Amino acid sequence: MKEIVIINGSPRRDGNTSTLLNAVARGVEDGGAAVQFYTLFKMKYMACQGCFHCRINDDCIIRDGLHELLQSIKAAHGVVVGSPVYMMQMTGPVKNMYDRIFALTDSDYNPRFGTKKTLTVYSQGYDDPHMFESYFEYTAAMFPALGFNLIDNIVSTNGNDPESAERNAQLKIRAYEAGKKLAF
Ligand SMILES: Cc1cc2nc3c(=O)[nH]c(=O)nc-3n(C[C@H](O)[C@H](O)[C@H](O)COP(=O)(O)O)c2cc1C
Repeated sequence: MKEIVIINGSPRRDGNTSTLLNAVARGVEDGGAAVQFYTLFKMKYMACQGCFHCRINDDCIIRDGLHELLQSIKAAHGVVVGSPVYMMQMTGPVKNMYDRIFALTDSDYNPRFGTKKTLTVYSQGYDDPHMFESYFEYTAAMFPALGFNLIDNIVSTNGNDPESAERNAQLKIRAYEAGKKLAF
């Protein structure tokens, strides 16, 4: 069975990122694939130590809470990364996770573990969904090296209210459909 790894980078269990990732997960499961869900704020892991072990080995040398996630991504058919926007960027645990998955890319910046359909989900306080578009695109520029093939980027707005995404039926459907697309 195809496995889709869903990574939640929000500290709010019932916030907007979680709502949309749960909709993605339903789509994945209805599409016939399995979900592996990781909540970064519940996991204990170090930031990248810059040891460059992964430049000559296809793994991160650090054995902590992120090790299992890294192995899951390597084997996955698809990856979903969800984050609130904090200080105009992804949250800290999401950035630390991206640094640690450097091992997915080889010394020539080609993917070591094939390509994976990828979906990003962001929740922001600001009400214009295009406000951080250039940042989202800039972040996605690293994806080809990781083997991440971006199929969609879903942005939820007015996110200080944890129910914003819950009330946005269209956005939840888009997230659900993206989940199905990941499964196929
Ligand atoms: C420390 C912090 C920094 C934030 N910075 C921004 C920001 O730069 N731009 C913005 O639109 N919203 C910002 N927000 C609002 C969050 O994006 C909003 O609360 C988020 O969408 C909540 O997502 P969640 O419901 O998934 O946890 C910030 C919130 C916090 C706590």
